[in-house]
Amino acid sequence: MRPNDPFSACEKDGLYKAIFSRRDVRSHFINKEIPNDILAKILNAAHHAPSVGFSQPWNFILIKANEIRQQVKDSFVIEREKSVSMLDSDKVKQKRYLSLKLEGIMDSAINICVTYDPTRFGPFVLGRTSIAETGVYSVCCAIQNLWLAARSEGIGIGWVSILANEDLQRILSIPDFVRPVAYLCLGYVSEFSDKPDLEKTGWLPRMGLEEVICFERWGSHKTDSWKQFYETISKIN
Ligand SMILES: Cc1cc2nc3c(=O)[nH]c(=O)nc-3n(C[C@H](O)[C@H](O)[C@H](O)COP(=O)(O)O)c2cc1C
Repeated sequence: MRPNDPFSACEKDGLYKAIFSRRDVRSHFINKEIPNDILAKILNAAHHAPSVGFSQPWNFILIKANEIRQQVKDSFVIEREKSVSMLDSDKVKQKRYLSLKLEGIMDSAINICVTYDPTRFGPFVLGRTSIAETGVYSVCCAIQNLWLAARSEGIGIGWVSILANEDLQRILSIPDFVRPVAYLCLGYVSEFSDKPDLEKTGWLPRMGLEEVICFERWGSHKTDSWKQFYETISKIN
C-alpha cells in the first residue's frame, strides 16, 4: 500500500475501535507491569501529535515511586474535599459524587505528568501569535494520542484533574514557567467499560451528535441546506 492511500477497512476498524472503546479508567487496574518497549511506543505516539508551529511543547514525567505518588494522592484528597464542599447545598448530588472513584494514583502501574513548556522553540512560535492557548491545545493532542495508543495495547488511562497544580509543581520539581497539564494513571486493566462511568452511574448522559453540531452559525441546528445531513446525524445515536 502506498502511504497516501486511504486506510484499508481493517485499519479503519482498528482506529475507530480505539476511539470508541477508549475509556477513562480509575478501577480495574491489574498487577502487571507495562513493558519498556510498549511504554516507549505509546509515548512515541504522543510525541507525534500535532503541535502549534511544530513546537512540541510537551514533557512526560514518568512516576513509579510510591512516596511521590502518595504526595500526589494527598493533594487529591485535599482537592476532593474542597469539591465536596461545593455541593453542600445539594446533598443528593454530594452523596453520589462521594460514591465515585475519581483516581487510580496508587493502584495503577505508572503515573505520568504531562507538562506544557511555553518557552520551547520560542518566544516566536508560528501560529501561536494570536491565540496563546494553542500551546496547551497541542499538549492535549499529545495526551489524546497517548490515550488511544494505550487503549490499542490494552492499557487503561485515567486523567486526574482534582489536584492543585502548585502541589504538582512542588512534588515533581517542575519549574515555575512550565505548566502541568495532565496527571495520568496508566496500567493494564481487567476490563474497559462499554460506556463512561459517569454515564453508567447516571451522572450525565451522552449528548446526541445533532445537539452539538450547528450549521453556518452558532445556535442554528436546522437549516434547509443541511437537512439531509441533519437526518443522517440524527440516526447515528
Ligand atoms: C481534562 C480532563 C480531566 C479529567 N479529570 C478527571 C478526574 O479528575 N477524575 C475522573 O475520575 N475523571 C476525570 N476525567 C475523565 C472524564 O470524567 C471522562 O473522560 C468522561 O467521563 C468520559 O468518559 P470516557 O473518557 O470513559 O469516555 C477527566 C477527563 C478530562 C478530559
